[in-house]
Amino acid sequence: MTTPAGDASAAPAASAATSAPRLGESVGPVVVGAGELRQRVAELGAAITEDYAGRPPLLVGVLKGAFVFMSDLSRAIDLPVDVDFMAVSSYGSATRTSGVVRIVKDLDADLSGRHVLVVEDIVDSGLTLSYLQRYLMARGPASLAVCALLVKEGQQRAPLDLRYVGFRIPAEFVVGYGLDADERLRNLDAIHVLADPSSSAS
Ligand code: IMP
Ligand code: MG
Repeated sequence: MTTPAGDASAAPAASAATSAPRLGESVGPVVVGAGELRQRVAELGAAITEDYAGRPPLLVGVLKGAFVFMSDLSRAIDLPVDVDFMAVSSYGSATRTSGVVRIVKDLDADLSGRHVLVVEDIVDSGLTLSYLQRYLMARGPASLAVCALLVKEGQQRAPLDLRYVGFRIPAEFVVGYGLDADERLRNLDAIHVLADPSSSAS
């Protein structure tokens, strides 16, 4: 894994305060603040710009969770990138992975000869990504790498090669900046712990 030197990928301390932001819903403490997100996305964009100079990547966002990160990251990359999206479902209605990955929306782009960079919101067990990597490799890209905004520490069940990682966080269920609990709270501008995981699902 390469991340920029002096990066902020170490787990940030969760703030003690429980906030109930503008959505009117109660959420738990902030795990990654909006300012930290902005700064880290800029760093990731700069690293990708340098690494992919002369071979602009096709960014493949994994819906729905990656839509906010993808939007910010793509604008932090100073290269003529292409973007495409896939939608996969791995959770059903529980907050724990089922291990079964279903492709809900496939790519439009032809991957052969392309430098593909998968943009993922969060890696928990890693089963979704590990399945996606095999699936995308079979389509003959020139290269395949992953940029994951969040990685939950100690949860991965399979070894994964994550070239770019935003933050490593404790293994708690989180929401905001694209991540949902039962389709809610995606539009929070920071990442929060979910207040009561038993009341909601991904
Ligand atoms: P994995 O297959 O266990 O790595 O799960 C990855 C997918 O599960 C992510 O792309 C998310 O959509 C979802 N997910 C995992 N953890 C969380 C979380 O804490 N909040 C919201 N969604 C999550
Ligand atoms: Mg989800």
